[in-house]
Amino acid sequence: ASNRMWGGRFASGPDAVMEAINASIDFDRKLYAQDIRGSLAHAAMLAETGIISTEDEQKIAHGLNTILSEIEAGTFEFSARLEDIHMNVEARLAELIGPAAGRLHTARSRNDQVALDFRLWVKEELERTDQALSRLLGAFLARAEEHAATIMPGFTHLQTAQPVTFGHHLMAYVEMLGRDRSRVRDAIERLDECPLGAAALAGTGFAIDRHMTAEALGFREPTRNSIDTVSDRDFALEFLSVAAICATHLSRLAEEIVIWSTPQFGFVRLSDAFSTGSSIMPQKKNPDAAELIRAKTGRINGDLIGLLTVMKGLPLAYSKDMQEDKENVFDAAETLDLMLAAMTGMIGDLEVNRQAMKKAAGSGYSTATDLADWLVREAGLPFRDAHHATGRAVALAEEKKCALEKLSLEELQAINPAITDDVFSVLSVSNSVRSRTSYGGTAPAEVRRQIRNWKKRLKRD
Ligand code: ARG
Repeated sequence: ASNRMWGGRFASGPDAVMEAINASIDFDRKLYAQDIRGSLAHAAMLAETGIISTEDEQKIAHGLNTILSEIEAGTFEFSARLEDIHMNVEARLAELIGPAAGRLHTARSRNDQVALDFRLWVKEELERTDQALSRLLGAFLARAEEHAATIMPGFTHLQTAQPVTFGHHLMAYVEMLGRDRSRVRDAIERLDECPLGAAALAGTGFAIDRHMTAEALGFREPTRNSIDTVSDRDFALEFLSVAAICATHLSRLAEEIVIWSTPQFGFVRLSDAFSTGSSIMPQKKNPDAAELIRAKTGRINGDLIGLLTVMKGLPLAYSKDMQEDKENVFDAAETLDLMLAAMTGMIGDLEVNRQAMKKAAGSGYSTATDLADWLVREAGLPFRDAHHATGRAVALAEEKKCALEKLSLEELQAINPAITDDVFSVLSVSNSVRSRTSYGGTAPAEVRRQIRNWKKRLKRD
């Protein structure tokens, strides 16, 4: 049978393989609510501008609402023969209301229709992501507050560097996720233009009111160039980029959780709710959720690269290639939602071993910089000389297999005679941490100040 949408020109129907490669209904049915919402707004505008009759508009609206409830009740029959969500809805509309259904597509093309549906969907997903990030930020802030003064080793090259507080470390993620959230909002801001009315690519001769549909659909304004409108998928690419960056942040923390929860580190214990056991080794408690967060980041990166590759080199305006934009976005959205929820749960019930963290913070000569700084401050040495003297002290401690503060005053004075008893006050991890009061530093008072600011900010938006 020839196609009901373009059968005029076609004598026979498509090959089964053609139908299979062409159909998108298996995934774009996800856009049903956006598709119907867009059609309702379009029909209302067509009636308002006198392009269709009010009577037809009422029939169309009634039919579309019936379809919406059929889909939501699970009684709607999707058909691959009808290719995509747009034609599935329109064909059913014709069944329900007859010839008036044929007027809905006046001054519209599937090209602006799909651009609209997808934009609406991505906008809603970005709003969901914003909410999920806000919940995760809340979880971080609560734990950071609790651990503003909990001392742990800070690392560079994964080698003990300087003592920091666990609250400060968590607040580093608050900064990253806060930027992710502002990227989400930027993306919403930029996609907030309504594609409807661009039609196939050139606009339309009908006297439509694009401002009216834009407003009805909650967009700031209509898009300004009809060719760009049906060609553009940057909004999807932006969502994927934001998702990939955010996932990357989550995966770094996931990696740290994997490391911290090893018996060798023992900094944290995952709750039973967010870990798994082993079917053979009874002692095991595995950080599967963290590992999967780490791994799923690869998948989201793949989704981004996939769509960038689809779009690269496509001539303007619409090409069917662009139908391949959806699955990557749906996959990344579902994956990121799950990752954010899992991280929120994991952070919320992470058990922290303060003793293990503090003990590790004191090993590895983590206060060597404090000794060097003391020599600069109290003995007037240039930093490079102080660095050298401290290096000798570390070498001596290493040789004696003891901590820096366990060296005697005599031993330290043999390295530099200006050293006095006072030096021991800076060699403890607590004093080291407490002294880092510079803006954004690890001193508990400063960490608490940043937490307070973030809490205010989170409440505000
Ligand atoms: N299913 C199509 C897509 O997702 C809808 C647009 C089709 N437009 C067209 N000219 N064939 O891109």
